[in-house]
Amino acid sequence: SKKLKIGVFGFGVVGSGLAHVLKNSKGLDASIVRVCVKDAGKIRDIDPDLITVNPDDILNDPEINVVVELIDDADAAYQIVKTAMQNGKHVVSANKKMLAYHIEELIQLQWKYKVSFLYEASACGSIPIIRNLEEYYDNDLLQSVSGVLNGSSNYILTKIFNENLDYNLALKEAQDLGFAESDPTSDVGGFDTLYKLIILTVHGFGLFVHPDEVFNAGIANLSPKDIELASQKGYKIRLLGKVTKVNGNHVNLFVAPKFVKPQEHAYTVESHYNGVLIQGNFYDNQFMYGKGAGSHPTGSAVLSDITALAYDYKYEYKKLKYYGGLEYTNDMDVEI
Ligand code: HSE
Repeated sequence: SKKLKIGVFGFGVVGSGLAHVLKNSKGLDASIVRVCVKDAGKIRDIDPDLITVNPDDILNDPEINVVVELIDDADAAYQIVKTAMQNGKHVVSANKKMLAYHIEELIQLQWKYKVSFLYEASACGSIPIIRNLEEYYDNDLLQSVSGVLNGSSNYILTKIFNENLDYNLALKEAQDLGFAESDPTSDVGGFDTLYKLIILTVHGFGLFVHPDEVFNAGIANLSPKDIELASQKGYKIRLLGKVTKVNGNHVNLFVAPKFVKPQEHAYTVESHYNGVLIQGNFYDNQFMYGKGAGSHPTGSAVLSDITALAYDYKYEYKKLKYYGGLEYTNDMDVEI
């Protein structure tokens, strides 16, 4: 397989997780040769000689053939990813916000510059959901993809329902454990779920949907009354993201908290786990479950993309290429 020289942007929760899982992985000829960060002074668990604050030290280094983008700022990430592709480097990213807004253009750019662009870590952490959605070849078979896509919100809801913990304390724990985004509004406001749903819609249904067009309600405005009512009925509340085919050729997306019953898959998803339910017309339900956030789970997903690069894996975008014709509708008159 190819020798991979990796330049990493960002060394926070995911970057340090990646460095750790890479160290423990055998059989892959890959090494991190540069790490670009904002603040060079911070103490990090990596050789200080690798650290730089100048993006060009990675983007213009001909020896580096893989750029791994793990920063927060979606606009800066977008510039980094574009330049990396232009410079002929393969790109691995975990930036769901950047992808939600720019995925259509970035797909075109990767084709133009003949590089690979992989982003399994952007959706559902360790669960290889993007690759798997590509395997549902025929749009007629896939009916909906839904689930618990945000580890932090789910961690908070679990703590509230199982331990009666206060919302703010639970949120603080989710931040301390490295599950939440640096601005947790994205988690509890539903945006993180929404961005992931947009990515899943591209791979599951071959459709680009603009994030601003989708109904989104996070968990931030749930009231104690909601929790009480759900508990009384023996339900739990889960923040769900769902993309559904409706009326043959339309697709609807939404993000909202929902009461779930014990027999529903989402009910069983606890803590920072994610669970994705894939519903088909001829095979009923399939359910994928695993850790959706955190340093090692997300770092592992990044490593799986890096490994895939070593054997020239590319997303095929089968739905985009072969099954066009679906249209987005935000008509909410859909069975959820
Ligand atoms: N903040 C995200 C979550 C991280 O809580 O799920 C993983 O994408």
